Amino acid sequence: MKPLIAPSILAADFANLQAEVELLNRSEADWIHVDIMDGRFVPNISFGFPVMEAINRYAQKPLDVHLMIVEPEQYIERFRAAGADSITVHAEATNHLHRAIQQIKASGAKASVAINPHTPVLLLEDIIADVDMVLVMSVNPGFGGQKFIENTYRKIETLKSLIHARNSRALIEVDGGVNEQNAPLLLASGADVLVAGSFVFSSDDPLQTIAELKKASSK
Ligand code: DX5
Ligand code: ZN
Repeated sequence: MKPLIAPSILAADFANLQAEVELLNRSEADWIHVDIMDGRFVPNISFGFPVMEAINRYAQKPLDVHLMIVEPEQYIERFRAAGADSITVHAEATNHLHRAIQQIKASGAKASVAINPHTPVLLLEDIIADVDMVLVMSVNPGFGGQKFIENTYRKIETLKSLIHARNSRALIEVDGGVNEQNAPLLLASGADVLVAGSFVFSSDDPLQTIAELKKASSK
């Protein structure tokens, strides 16, 4: 199966956001990945609702919103209203993950949980059947352009087994340091969705780079 490709708008030129979103509209990207950072859960601040709404005004593809914020429960409905099609909360950012997942579903968005590089996959044992997706961080969240963590392959394999064992339909999304070199092995390990920021937007031809990622296969 072809992977789903979700370029991260974090690596785009914010001074030309409309053009960048329109480029993604024309591309083979499946989703637009939107990184929200609060300066508390992660040591960086990205942007909030006004920018998210501006992206939504031009986007013709689903917005895959990755919340790297503490107390995500407080903002789920507002992100949904701002155009989120799927909402990802970090397992490390809430004491009540089950409640947060139900809240996302009630908002009408797809519900997803993210885990940091140090967080064991088995923490998800009792939530895996309830989520539409798991986002596996392959760098420490907070910044684009970081080096891919090799242990990610093993985590994806463990997660895939857990998904099968629990009859879950969750997709596996990988986020951080994804490029054309690690994409085939990520897919072979069981990944379904590839997020790519700097690899796409720092390339000479982002449309071509997205097309290459889309063609990546596990073979
Ligand atoms: C990191 C973000 C990622 C980031 C990916 O905290 O969650 O989505 O934008 O960027 P690259 O592909 O450059 O690692
Ligand atoms: Zn992200």
